Amino acid sequence: MTTNDIRQKYLNFFERRGHAILPSASLVPEGDATTLFTSAGMQPMMPYLLGAKHPLGKRLVDSQKCFRSQDIEEVGDNRHTTFFEMLGNWSLGDYFKKEQLKFFFEFLTDAGKGLGLDPHRLFVTVFEGNSEIPRDTETIEIWKDLFLRANISTPDQHIFTYPAKKNWWSRAGEPEKMPVGEPGGPDSEVFYDFGADLKLHESSIYQKEACHPNCDCGRYLEIGNSVFMQYRKEADGTLSELPQKNIDFGGGLVRLAAAVNHDPDIFNTDLYSPIIKEVEKLSGRSYLDDESKPSMRIIADHLTAASFLIKDGVFPSNKAQGYVLRRLLRRAAVKLHFLMGGREGIVKLAGITSSIIDIYKNIYFVGDDTLYVQGAIAAEIGKFEKSLDKGIKEMEKKAEITGKDAFDLYQNYGFPLEITTEILAQIGKTVDQNQFELEFEKHKNLSRTASAGSFKGGLADHSQTVTAYHTATHLLHAALRRILGEHVSQKGSNITAERLRFDFSHPDKLTEEQIKALEDLINQKIKEKLPVTRTEMPKDQAIAEGALAFFGQKYPDLVSVYTIGKGPQTFSKELCGGPHVESLAELAKIKIVKQESLGAGTRRLYLQFV
Ligand code: SER
Repeated sequence: MTTNDIRQKYLNFFERRGHAILPSASLVPEGDATTLFTSAGMQPMMPYLLGAKHPLGKRLVDSQKCFRSQDIEEVGDNRHTTFFEMLGNWSLGDYFKKEQLKFFFEFLTDAGKGLGLDPHRLFVTVFEGNSEIPRDTETIEIWKDLFLRANISTPDQHIFTYPAKKNWWSRAGEPEKMPVGEPGGPDSEVFYDFGADLKLHESSIYQKEACHPNCDCGRYLEIGNSVFMQYRKEADGTLSELPQKNIDFGGGLVRLAAAVNHDPDIFNTDLYSPIIKEVEKLSGRSYLDDESKPSMRIIADHLTAASFLIKDGVFPSNKAQGYVLRRLLRRAAVKLHFLMGGREGIVKLAGITSSIIDIYKNIYFVGDDTLYVQGAIAAEIGKFEKSLDKGIKEMEKKAEITGKDAFDLYQNYGFPLEITTEILAQIGKTVDQNQFELEFEKHKNLSRTASAGSFKGGLADHSQTVTAYHTATHLLHAALRRILGEHVSQKGSNITAERLRFDFSHPDKLTEEQIKALEDLINQKIKEKLPVTRTEMPKDQAIAEGALAFFGQKYPDLVSVYTIGKGPQTFSKELCGGPHVESLAELAKIKIVKQESLGAGTRRLYLQFV
């Protein structure tokens, strides 16, 4: 079964059950200035979910093109992409939970009408309830019945309940994050189990905990989500019932293909393998080589996303969608540059798009699109190739790269910070992100909207969560030095609204005990609600007082120092541009969710607020 067959089967399955087939809406939302891209199948359906009458009726089905720039940092593993197709079916005040779960289960498991997946490999999650919204026992009962009918005698073992963080859906996330007027509701996700033989869980830091659908070791892959869209956020902060109960289902097309193939690597599906082959030819590297794999996946994803964006009328520029497209192309180009061992010719990247257009020919592209899409990409990469060479030479010349240098690279050569960071990683150097941000702040006349938040969280995105993660960075750094030793020094960090990623020098994998000790120490400090204060002082005085400074960085003579805690209770003191919270009382409890080795005595931790 090809991925094109899966899409078609899904559309036909729901058409036979009274659904009208809708074409995909554009990746650039029409008449919605609140968001740059269509990031979920439900987005173009918003007015109808809120009660407007749809001209094609109450049952609709489609496969919607989606782009999620916030997932960019995750691309490189076996299952994340920025561009994807989301299969969707909707009931606008028509059927509800029972029919929806039965439809989807039948589509997944019936070999004739659907995909013929083994029900033993399917696991589902359900909303466990909170003080305001009850536990979704109705959904639990429906799933029990469906599993029993599929001859699974222990259905309870296939049903897991989770809080709103995992089993509530609105565009903004949990109920308390929903803006006024936004629809949302509890949801039920279906996961495909690739099997414990993957051994991935054994290498995760939660090896002693039992694996479960939402464990991120990769054993379980989410393949579909049924949202019971029945609430709306009111101005007084409460949730009211929508005039109708809706179903909003979204399923990742390529993930379903991975489940059908029983291979967790989505880049082995026919939506990506032809692109990967082209990248192999161009670079002379093999996808089987673990070092080349993440870069090849990034190139395949970013070029696919770029081709679809261009087709939907986006052109590389310094603003909004165009800026995101530019960054995707530049990142793919940098990856190819290093895959090719620095040889000239990254402009050949444009040629790869013909394989992408072939994959989706007569579905989203027509033959004539090749020239247009390739032309746009070749022009953009052609311009960038010259800057890339010059920029890399400049970085190689300098013994150290300061935040100001990184900012100059951004201004002179159009290197966004993550591109500079990636190039520096290749040549064994680092840069202080905070210093870069400080420089960036100084140049407010630059196109801030385009760079702040629209590509990823982090850069100049001073929302509350991001600020809280900035402070958590200092806490983690100080905690690491207490628990592991003074040899620990920060090598880099990256913040999105979802998590903190922190790189530091340390030779060994952290043990579970060490992870736990770090978590406990940080959470203890948060519990103590220590104050966070900013002072300005001469650099030499700050260093003399023991403030941490990094990257052999050049700091101005007058620096700002952030101190967490007071007097003998001081827990951390760092030279930093901020911003930070004023008190640890503003921070939620933290958890260290993942660790990785970056080789050469450098380790990476991921931390989240829970
Ligand atoms: N809106 C839900 C999601 O994006 C289901 O379509 O997952």
